[in-house]
Amino acid sequence: MLYNSIVTASVAFASVVSALPTELSKRANIDTTVLQFALTLEHLENVFYKQALKNFSQEDFQKAGYSADYYNDLKYIAHDEEQHVLLLEGALTAAGVTPVQACTYSFPYYDVRSFITLSSVLEGVGTSAYLGGAPLITSKQYLTVAASILVTEALHTSLQRLAINEVPMANPYGTPLDPMSVYTLAAMFIVSCPASNAALPFTSYPSLQVDGSTCTCEEPQCGSPRDVIKRGSGWASKHGGWPETWRPQQSNSCMPPSPGKSVTFTANSTIPAGSYVTFVSGLSVVSVQGNINGMDINAAVPSQAMGQTYVFVTSQDEKGTLTAADIKYGPAVLEVNPPPPSIDYSIMKE
Ligand SMILES: *[C@@H]1O[C@H](CO)[C@@H](O)[C@H](O)[C@H]1NC(C)=O
Ligand SMILES: *[C@@H]1O[C@H](CO)[C@@H](O)[C@H](O)[C@H]1NC(C)=O
Repeated sequence: MLYNSIVTASVAFASVVSALPTELSKRANIDTTVLQFALTLEHLENVFYKQALKNFSQEDFQKAGYSADYYNDLKYIAHDEEQHVLLLEGALTAAGVTPVQACTYSFPYYDVRSFITLSSVLEGVGTSAYLGGAPLITSKQYLTVAASILVTEALHTSLQRLAINEVPMANPYGTPLDPMSVYTLAAMFIVSCPASNAALPFTSYPSLQVDGSTCTCEEPQCGSPRDVIKRGSGWASKHGGWPETWRPQQSNSCMPPSPGKSVTFTANSTIPAGSYVTFVSGLSVVSVQGNINGMDINAAVPSQAMGQTYVFVTSQDEKGTLTAADIKYGPAVLEVNPPPPSIDYSIMKE
């Protein structure tokens, strides 16, 4: 059921230093913890691309409409992720810490297009992870390394967004995401990790998923959403359903919602009365009073949301700064169609 809802007037370009677990910020070895977390994500990306390059040939990409140049760029991405793994392993070893090893993963894509879509989301999350992790790093040397990797992840994001016809730079700002939220998203793909891996001080938040009916299919660009679900059902049945955020009907058959559109999110338990839907996009954190119906909550996408947006159910109106203790569910990953670019020619000097 769709409801209209009221966007609360919390225009927020204020401080977005979001949810940082206090235990974490007190840790003495915070820098190596952040590097271990970064390595955890880089391992995931490294395996993700190498598996895809083994799963799909250049011919498969060409059949799906992707050029030889694009395929070559993909190999550059795989090479980059491998280098990131090696660099972080080296930095940790030099700091006297045993680097975490790669885990076993399961990635919900089933063809070239759904792989590229998932890649664009993962690269966006990776970029957000480095941005959100940056304020935690105390060593300026490590900060430069992290920022250097962030640039490359953002370039990957841009390439992959363009490859699925999304605006590559849909938001004037990158979106910082705190480690717990990043962990929540990454954990969906992790089946198991070596027991010898140092434990990370993170846990997952209760999940939130974007309701599939958010998507409207634009013929003839895509088959019916049902067909797409059917094609991807092998992965889903093997893993007891789609992981919340990555359901295939969102990947290649849907037009992302624009600001103002009502979107329903489904939590994994009954949502407490009075909860808000909080949209984190670029440097904005905007809470909207949600319409609650059991495990569903519905809200209109605020105008500040553009491009890959992280959505939480929170107990408070976050008023520009997401507080960890207020997070009840999330994040869900919502792609929001940005408005047409507006350019003010009075803001220039001739
Ligand atoms: C890709 O490769 C991985 C690892 O071999 C496998 O588990 C997965 O099912 C493959 N996916 C596709 C779509 O071929
Ligand atoms: C919701 O998700 C959280 C985090 O994964 C989990 O601990 C909790 O048991 C889940 N709740 C239900 C009702 O499934």
